[in-house]
Order: sequence, then C-alpha cells, then structure tokens
Amino acid sequence: MEPERTASKRTPVAPHPPLPQYYEKAEDRRSFVDRIFDDTAVHYDWINNVMSLGSGVTYRREALRRAGVVTGMRVLDVCSGSCQVARAAEDIVGREGWVCGLDASLGMLREGRNFVSAPLTQAFVERLPIADEVVDAVTMGYALRHVADLETTFREYYRVLKPGGRLLILEFTKPKSSVMFQASRFYLRRVVPALARLRGRKARTLMEYFWDTIEHCVPPETIIDALSASGFENVGRSGQIQLFSEYLAFKGE
Ligand SMILES: C[S@@+](CC[C@H](N)C(=O)[O-])C[C@H]1O[C@@H](n2cnc3c(N)ncnc32)[C@H](O)[C@@H]1O
Repeated sequence: MEPERTASKRTPVAPHPPLPQYYEKAEDRRSFVDRIFDDTAVHYDWINNVMSLGSGVTYRREALRRAGVVTGMRVLDVCSGSCQVARAAEDIVGREGWVCGLDASLGMLREGRNFVSAPLTQAFVERLPIADEVVDAVTMGYALRHVADLETTFREYYRVLKPGGRLLILEFTKPKSSVMFQASRFYLRRVVPALARLRGRKARTLMEYFWDTIEHCVPPETIIDALSASGFENVGRSGQIQLFSEYLAFKGE
C-alpha cells in the first residue's frame, strides 16, 4: 500500500540535533558532512579496519544474510562510501543479481571503485535518481545519522523497492546500560580518534564526530516509528552487544 504523502505537513525528524562544535548552524551540517567524508575518504577503510579489528566486511556480509539477501537479488546500496556493504552484497547476489551503489561524496566513491564492479553514482538519499519499484533490497550501512530527515529518506527507499522488497539499515546505537555506554564511549570517543590521528587531524575529527552523532542520535523507537510512518511493514530491530542495530523493514506485496 502506498504511504500517505503528508511530508509537507509534518516537522522533519533529524537523526540528531545540530552539533555546534563541528558546524555553527543547522543548515551548515550538510556541507560539513560532505567535506569531512571527502577529506578523509582515503583513510576510511584503514580506520574502519582498526576500529572493527578487521571484521567490517564480514560483519556486513553476515548482516545481509540475516536480512534475507540472497543470490539473484537486485540490491541498491545507499551511502556506499568505500563500498564495504556493496562488496558484501556483490559476493552474495552473484552474477545472477545486481548491485548499484550511491553516495554524496565523490571521494568516498573513488575509494569504493577499487573494490566493486557495481555501478556507482553520486547522489543524495533524500532524492534517489532511480525509478519506482525496481530493487529487491535497499541497504544502508552506518549512515542514517547523516540524513536530513528520516521520513523523507525512508519514503524514497519505499518508492524504489519492489512490492515485497526489504530495507536493511545497519547503525550504531547508544547503549542503554551505563557500563556498556561508558566502555563504548571510552573506546570510540577516545581510543579510536587517537588512532585515527595517525592518519591526520581530519581523520581524528571524523571519528570524534562519529561518536558524538551516536551519542546524540534519536532512539531506536523514533527510527522504527518513522519507518512505519513511511509505509513499511513488519518493521523490526535486532541488536548485537547493545551497540550494533540492524533495522529490517518490508514493503507490502
Ligand atoms: C560512515 S560512511 C558509511 C559507508 C558504508 N556504507 C559503510 O558501511 O562503511 C557514511 C557515508 O554516507 C554518505 N552520506 C552521508 N549523508 C548522505 C546523504 N544524505 N546521501 C547520500 N550519501 C550520504 C557519506 O558521504 C559517507 O560516505
């Protein structure tokens, strides 16, 4: 069923409030995000490998499998960055399937090009340059915190999915338990930025920003509500060690 188009009447839901230590006004957020990813693109995989102890692509591949991505599917990977999700998707869907990636940052896509044969396009998720109902799955890895408005974004995903198609969003979540929160904050806000500093000042800023957006992100319930309001059905979230969330949602037949 097509979701009601009430976007103009509602207040946009940003994933987190403005963070003035990085950009002065809310309207400067987009250019800050684009610049920081462009400027650090060549370091992204290195940082990611250090942060995840080399498990990044494997984790993404397993998450895609858990979400029911299988051989032969047509997958749109949004916010592909250096294509860690798109690589995993290509492995799974094989030659019978098809993967397409897009990202706002040309620098990140240039890095991604080294790892996939999928077509890659510079575009924003808020306005996908893709026809209605053409893909079996939309995947989004660790980028939800950077979109302008949750519902505008989810409606675009809904639009391009075929009936019965699925959306998988991988995202970090601020842990609820105090011990897990303190441990995550120490590792991700102190240790990882200090290691990233080895690749330059901007790489450190990227990783400080990374944690700050997690800490200030809307809770999972808000994300789930926005998915349902955008027309998705059977919306669910599963978690790994409180910190990693996998949101799975379906477009009705
Ligand atoms: C943390 S990286 C994630 C990359 C990859 N998906 C992964 O799993 O490693 C976030 C990416 O989202 C992109 N991005 C942020 N906001 C975007 C938007 N509104 N539309 C398209 N891409 C966006 C950034 O340029 C960046 O490459």
